[in-house]
Amino acid sequence: MNNNILNQINQLKKEKNAVILAHYYVNDETQAIADYVGDSFYLAKIARNTDADILVFCGVSFMGESAKILNPDKKVLMPDLTADCPMAHMVKNGKIEEMRKKYDDLAVVCYINSTAELKCQSDVCVTSSNAIKIVKALPNKNIFFIPDKNLGSYVAEQVPDKNIILNDGCCPVHANVTVQEVIAEKEKHPQALIFSHPECNKEVLELSDKLGSTAEIITFVKNSDANEFIICTEDGVDYKLRTDNPNKKFYFPQSCHCCADMKLNTPERILHVLKTEQNSIEIDEEIRKKALIPLDKMLELAK
Ligand code: 13P
Ligand code: SF4
Repeated sequence: MNNNILNQINQLKKEKNAVILAHYYVNDETQAIADYVGDSFYLAKIARNTDADILVFCGVSFMGESAKILNPDKKVLMPDLTADCPMAHMVKNGKIEEMRKKYDDLAVVCYINSTAELKCQSDVCVTSSNAIKIVKALPNKNIFFIPDKNLGSYVAEQVPDKNIILNDGCCPVHANVTVQEVIAEKEKHPQALIFSHPECNKEVLELSDKLGSTAEIITFVKNSDANEFIICTEDGVDYKLRTDNPNKKFYFPQSCHCCADMKLNTPERILHVLKTEQNSIEIDEEIRKKALIPLDKMLELAK
């Protein structure tokens, strides 16, 4: 990392009372300079509770938006405003109304990987680390789980007494991991445990030894006696896995497991937004207030 960039970032952070939040999927250099690195749930809690004046959010747009919704008095800057999660948009127009008409007691459960507009129409948000707990806590029998069908089907298996209706959306990065390539890795490394993110498809999840959010995968590895792991999630987690466990070995499936949008967050762009305060997240106040309801409910039910 260029020391000059690092020094300027540190100086501006101090002058402006700014903090850098980063998801585990951003590149190594960006994780290394962040004040907080974590999964979506952890970062939402940090965004809610920070007393910094400026948050530089290194992730994708739904994360920056969630930070602004939860803490509107702060300036939330994104190093690159085009960093977006394609899955966050994958609910067809009119689908939520259609489901609400069909089921009287419907709860719309919205994965945090969703636009502010989708959150506005939802009853509660979840992340991959709290979805099971939250769905179990809801009194409703009928649940419309948006946008991710893979996380939704995993939750449905874990909470069989609910009728979980799936939506046709998924993460293009995780859904790209195939059973064949996971089996191929296992054949090369028979001792390795398979740890997967629940955004992977059902067949991959069935092969896995453990499932969890990015932070949970990192904790499972740290606490495991095993020395080799096949990791089915985005490759950015490799940085933390290697840093925490220098003597353990990690293998990733062969296909593309890189989220190009997450990689748009670079130290150069962080420096630029810290200097200029450009790329500020702005949300219409009416939308913000509506989207806050399911996010607040998540924070309450996940306690
Ligand atoms: P978590 O960090 O909550 O595991 O989410 C993964 C993800 O895909 C974020 O976009
Ligand atoms: Fe979205 Fe998938 Fe990228 Fe996560 S990894 S931000 S779910 S596209």
